[in-house]
Amino acid sequence: MRLTLVGTGYVGLVAAVCFAKLGHDVIAVDREPIIRGLQENKLNIWEPQLEQELADVSAKGNLRFETDVVKASADADALMVAVGTPTRPDGHTDLGHIHEVLAQLMQSTTCPPFVIIKSTVPVGTCDELEASLLAAGLHTEVVFNPEFLRQGSALNDFMEPDRIVFGCKTPQAETLLRELYDGIEAPIHVCERRSAELVKYASNAFLAMKISFANMMSDVCEGYGADIRHVMSGVGADRRIGPEFLSAGVGYGGSCFSKDLQALLTTGKLIGRSLPLLEAVAKVNDQRIPRMIAKLISLWGNPLGKRLCVLGISFKPNTNDVRDAPFLTLLAQCERHGIEVQAYDPVVRQVGAKTVKVLESPYTAAATADAVLIMTEWPQFAELDWPYLLHLMRQPLVLDGRNLLPSGVISQIVDVVKAVYVPVGRPMECSLSAREESL
Ligand SMILES: NC(=O)c1ccc[n+]([C@@H]2O[C@H](COP(=O)([O-])OP(=O)(O)OC[C@H]3O[C@@H](n4cnc5c(N)ncnc54)[C@H](O)[C@@H]3O)[C@@H](O)[C@H]2O)c1
Repeated sequence: MRLTLVGTGYVGLVAAVCFAKLGHDVIAVDREPIIRGLQENKLNIWEPQLEQELADVSAKGNLRFETDVVKASADADALMVAVGTPTRPDGHTDLGHIHEVLAQLMQSTTCPPFVIIKSTVPVGTCDELEASLLAAGLHTEVVFNPEFLRQGSALNDFMEPDRIVFGCKTPQAETLLRELYDGIEAPIHVCERRSAELVKYASNAFLAMKISFANMMSDVCEGYGADIRHVMSGVGADRRIGPEFLSAGVGYGGSCFSKDLQALLTTGKLIGRSLPLLEAVAKVNDQRIPRMIAKLISLWGNPLGKRLCVLGISFKPNTNDVRDAPFLTLLAQCERHGIEVQAYDPVVRQVGAKTVKVLESPYTAAATADAVLIMTEWPQFAELDWPYLLHLMRQPLVLDGRNLLPSGVISQIVDVVKAVYVPVGRPMECSLSAREESL
């Protein structure tokens, strides 16, 4: 199949590479500087194995790049749109990038018979897009095919998804989508477009709800000296609930959860319905960083002039994506309290904020710090030479915002280095002498 795919970000580039791997003839479209980079196999996103897979499919000639949507889609069987759909300041979804793509098509007299929307869009969008194409004289079916990949394991998630959802009107559209995904083993859910649009939002809202539930319970655990890991492993063992997304920590981030939750809240408002459960999910999440700062202040006393080493900038491991990362909220709040931040991340090298020093190694980031805070669960942080890292600091205080450190490391740093270890939703650990000192 000849597929033109517009938008080569975290979703679009992965989809382009995977559809090319499945044997389709793919042309990917984006803006000039991004396409120039991709033609030289330079990616501005970081995702495990993506660079190599991109080089392979490009070398085979299955994936090419273009900057002109009309030219790229002239002979295509379908045009897929995977551009960003951010939130506007008024809470509505900004469909500007999608409209820009369609406006280019409308200037031409031809359009592929199917436009597949992969971007996450509010309910009713596909109906509206199809109507505007029709008004411009283009007889094209708009199809909705949401994406559920997770950054950090995107290629694998794309090739081995839990399910594939098609929101379409005609059997011809369903046949086309089945052909496109031929080679991927997964249950296929076919429904009308409005339901498919809601499947995506409801899925992300539900996952965010699980995380906020675990975080809310972690507050209870902290109050009563229980351990959130034991509570949630007991809860998640119930097959009706499942163990995923039940880890307590510094809260969810990334480009999707907050945005999609907000979009769903706005969707409810448009029909006069409040969605209080989702409001609570966002509220619990918003409390995470202030709680972390409050813990630091209670341990430090006066935070002014203190130096915090932060390990992890990206919103999750195995990605360089900092969009809506909890780190950014932390940074803003540290600035307000006069706390200096020096950070390290295995792949993020800059964050564009003047108030943070991003350093080349976790050890240089820890030098002369008054506390270290683990913000992202990069597995390599558990492998660091923790006694050495703590030895470089002014004060051996570890806040584990992801409950990442294994018990062996914790007992070593607490017993040998006399560090204070502060996890989430579990009792703090420190040596007997440190405890006596604090009394
Ligand atoms: N990131 C995720 O994990 C994820 C998962 C599932 C769904 N989604 C949804 O997929 C969509 C894309 O997300 P993303 O994270 O890949 O976004 P992104 O910002 O990483 O990528 C969007 C790309 O579209 C390009 N673009 C925008 N307008 C364009 C135009 N007119 N012509 C050509 N290119 C254009 C941008 O230059 C950019 O490269 C969003 O709706 C998002 O909600 C994202």
